[in-house]
Amino acid sequence: MIETDVLIVGSGPAGSAAALALSTYGIRNVLVTKYRWLADTPRAHITNQRTMEILRDLGVEDEVLAKATPQEWMGNTVFCTSLAGEELGRIRTWGTHPQRKADYDQASPSAMCDMPQNLMEPILFGNACARGTRARMDTEYLSLVQDAEGVTATVRDRLDGREYQIRAKYLIGADGGRSKVAEDIGLPMEGRMGVAGSMNIVFKADLSRYVAHRPSVLYWVLQPGSNIGGIGMGLVRMVRPWNEWLIVWGYDINQPPPEVDARVATEVAHKLIGDDTIPIEVTSTSVWTVNHMFATRYAEGRVFCMGDAVHRHPPSNGLGSNTSIQDAYNLAWKLALVLKGQAAPSLLESYDAERAPVGRQIVTRANQSIEEFGPIFGALGLLDDRGFAQMRANMEARKADTPEAAEQREALRRAIAFKDYEFNAHGVEMNQRYHSSAVVPDGTPEPEFRRDRELFYHPTTWPGARLPHAWLGRGGHQVSTLDLAGKGRFSLFTGPTGAAWAEAAARASAETGVPIEVFIIGPGQAHEDLFGDWAQLREVGEGGCVLVRPDMHVAWRAQDSTGTAGLAEAMLAILGRS
Ligand code: FDA
Repeated sequence: MIETDVLIVGSGPAGSAAALALSTYGIRNVLVTKYRWLADTPRAHITNQRTMEILRDLGVEDEVLAKATPQEWMGNTVFCTSLAGEELGRIRTWGTHPQRKADYDQASPSAMCDMPQNLMEPILFGNACARGTRARMDTEYLSLVQDAEGVTATVRDRLDGREYQIRAKYLIGADGGRSKVAEDIGLPMEGRMGVAGSMNIVFKADLSRYVAHRPSVLYWVLQPGSNIGGIGMGLVRMVRPWNEWLIVWGYDINQPPPEVDARVATEVAHKLIGDDTIPIEVTSTSVWTVNHMFATRYAEGRVFCMGDAVHRHPPSNGLGSNTSIQDAYNLAWKLALVLKGQAAPSLLESYDAERAPVGRQIVTRANQSIEEFGPIFGALGLLDDRGFAQMRANMEARKADTPEAAEQREALRRAIAFKDYEFNAHGVEMNQRYHSSAVVPDGTPEPEFRRDRELFYHPTTWPGARLPHAWLGRGGHQVSTLDLAGKGRFSLFTGPTGAAWAEAAARASAETGVPIEVFIIGPGQAHEDLFGDWAQLREVGEGGCVLVRPDMHVAWRAQDSTGTAGLAEAMLAILGRS
């Protein structure tokens, strides 16, 4: 029988990221995946700063950036009647508004980008395999049995039909929105699947003449009369600028899924482009459903689920693969410490406690973002039940020289600006604060969000939050606090008057067997607070400390250099050994 430490089912963003992190941390793992290769369609694109920070920590950020479309080309989200037709309005998106750009730039050393999933997965998976992951393609997970020491999974080789077993100490179910693993371990789910029907049409066409002057990832097309339900709304989504595209187009969920052959696909593409002279090469079509479902628990015994297996939602806000990669990053260091015998298995309970609330939040947000198109339809008069001709007349009415039309124009402007909650929801992407046994409170109350918590990121070193990013100086070069943290180990930040923390960290490491890398930030030290940013962000005195977990979330902090014994206690508590 094949034996390993961690068996991963699935090679999507969640499974491949889990394999990459585990292999980076030196943990034996086997990955099985059902198909012969990775994602063959672009699917997820938007890659937010939290995810880029993780990829940076895992050493693949540059590889991703080399293939991605940069943030500055993601910004002109357009609402129009077709790409060639009338433009109804625009919103500056993904942090590209001059007023928002500073928020994004200050929040992270990493920029958001647009990276199609079919390009992302080979980077995650390839690096995982290069670092030690043993992968088996065309291998389908069938069932599992757990006992006190491990999990035995039965899998089928889809090439020769042979069934065999793999024994692992832990199993990760990263097998997507129809997860068999989640079903087999009976994870409780809330919500429902199949809220609406959508089709994807992937095609090649040079659309430069319609888009290059307003570069964006998303072009929303509103064509009353072109679709089911009275509102014809479709999305033309950039895959590669400006010659590869993905159209998302709705179908009636109460009817059987439509047959989308090349003829139908070309027709839809031409309709949305508004120019049927453009040559179209359809490369794939598929149908999928909008889901609103999340698991309230992510684990059972030695089996942990992540990604779409536990949060299923529409692509709005671009949160799916981001959250999947972040789930993997959260679990991997915990599994590594438990498997190395440095932490008690109870550390693993914090995975569920920390990630299930995030899953619930993103499923709710993504579905709400769909509903928030309603005011745009309303302002354009597309909710009128007197038929398509009337809807088109309503859209036209906004151009008139009348007070009613002025009101309509104002309503449309407000409705489009409100889509900030989908396209500039920096807080949704960045504000995760964990509450679990793997975070030791310092007795201070949770900081209030000073600005809208969905739109704005609020950096804090409050235990449970992500370590704030500040540029430091090292030998004249800039390095982020996040570059010092991570790398599969704990780190501790203090200042020149906090030398006592270095000794405390050495003692805590000796006691727990878990290394803690200490960074004293100040003049004459290896790292200097050149801009004074760290002093603004650290929220502890210069002689205090901020203890950071391997996943760059703050584990614990102290205001000053008294009470250094608290460090070992905090470490033991986090490791489940107190
Ligand atoms: P995913 O479904 O990707 O992978 C599951 C894996 O499990 C696959 O490798 C599959 O082969 C394997 N598998 C399944 N059953 C198995 C079995 N029995 N045995 C072995 N292997 C098995 N997200 C985002 O962050 N930004 C975005 O912009 C978008 N945009 C977007 C657009 C569209 C049109 C769609 C449909 C989706 C998005 N998403 C997105 C969502 C994103 O694609 C999705 O959230 C991630 O792929 C989820 O990653 P997972 O790894 O969890 O599952």
